[in-house]
Amino acid sequence: MAPVLNVGIIGTGIFARDRHLPSYEEMSSDFKVVAAFNRTKSKALDFGKRAGLPEEKIYDDIDGILADKDVSYVDALVPAQFNVLTAEKAIAAGKPILLEKPIAATMQQARELVKLSDSTDLPIGIAENWLYLGAIDVVQKHLPEIGAVIAFTHNSTGPFLTKNKYLSTSWRQNPEHIGGFLSDGGVHQLALVTHLLGEFDTVSALTKQVRKESGTDDIVFSTVKLVDSDVIGTFTYGSSFGATEKSVFLKIYGTKGSIEAQLSDKRNPVVKVQLGDSAETSEKEVIYPIKEDGSFGVNAEFKSFHEAVVKGDKSLYKGTPRVAFHHLACVAAFLESSAKNGDHVKVERV
Ligand SMILES: NC(=O)c1ccc[n+]([C@@H]2O[C@H](COP(=O)([O-])OP(=O)(O)OC[C@H]3O[C@@H](n4cnc5c(N)ncnc54)[C@H](OP(=O)(O)O)[C@@H]3O)[C@@H](O)[C@H]2O)c1
Repeated sequence: MAPVLNVGIIGTGIFARDRHLPSYEEMSSDFKVVAAFNRTKSKALDFGKRAGLPEEKIYDDIDGILADKDVSYVDALVPAQFNVLTAEKAIAAGKPILLEKPIAATMQQARELVKLSDSTDLPIGIAENWLYLGAIDVVQKHLPEIGAVIAFTHNSTGPFLTKNKYLSTSWRQNPEHIGGFLSDGGVHQLALVTHLLGEFDTVSALTKQVRKESGTDDIVFSTVKLVDSDVIGTFTYGSSFGATEKSVFLKIYGTKGSIEAQLSDKRNPVVKVQLGDSAETSEKEVIYPIKEDGSFGVNAEFKSFHEAVVKGDKSLYKGTPRVAFHHLACVAAFLESSAKNGDHVKVERV
């Protein structure tokens, strides 16, 4: 039986309380939350009560939790601009660390984080839960059936939710991370597309700010060319529109058919496959329902990090800093392209 890993939580905000803690509790044969630290201590104490932690396991500073011998790894849920510093400290303390996405606030910091991760054998993960969606496995299974991939369309659009619990956080309203919501939520979409199809080589994009509370541009409409291939596509992301049905899908067009991952209904995603090399030979669409647990990839992601830590093999975890670097680099390229009125720009590679 795999050992139980003791987790120290750094940053006990909304996502730590509403998703990470429940996920760890659902998988109690693999994980136990044993310590917490938060800048505002009262919030960590509340979190500690929920998690059943004794008061001496609520730390006053990051160094305290990192020095705790009971902690097997730390899970840090802080704004992206603190990721590099937090990772540096965790590595110095010899602790593996799972950091929240996006990888960093700037490309300079993202480069530093990749360097830091390259400098150690400790697993340094960026929690990109969309890399662990069940739909990915089903698309991967059927992808060879549609022949050579020609093109794709990714769309993630939805209406503005004024009561969104994340929208009111001050660090989101005054983003230090490039692209604000474009990197906050957009990296999830980029993880899905690039994991299945490959990295973006160049992009031509227009971005703009719609919602005042976003603090910066919050929608992107773009065309894309993939690295080392002639696959082309479109990538559209935004959640600040007026009333419209929420629509999240990735459609991949091939020479012998097409596949669509339909994720608009988070709880009940489906993958649709239609085969045939022309309208005449086109077969009936086959629909594969996906079993997604309520965590939307987080539980599977934690299991994967668990394996990487236990086996001491950082390559077992999909969300490496190098992988997450690409997602932020795409956002940077969207912004650069838009500033140049949609000129095609190269996506930075590391
Ligand atoms: N994967 C996903 O789907 C997903 C979803 C939501 C969030 N996230 C990620 O989870 C992380 C937390 O987000 P959240 O929504 O939970 O936000 P949140 O509730 O605002 O939590 C942010 C945490 O960071 C701390 N913090 C903020 N500014 C700080 C500063 N200047 N110095 C030190 N600590 C600071 C806060 O401490 P205080 O209590 O003192 O303010 C709080 O503990 C973010 O990285 C976010 O991207 C991921």
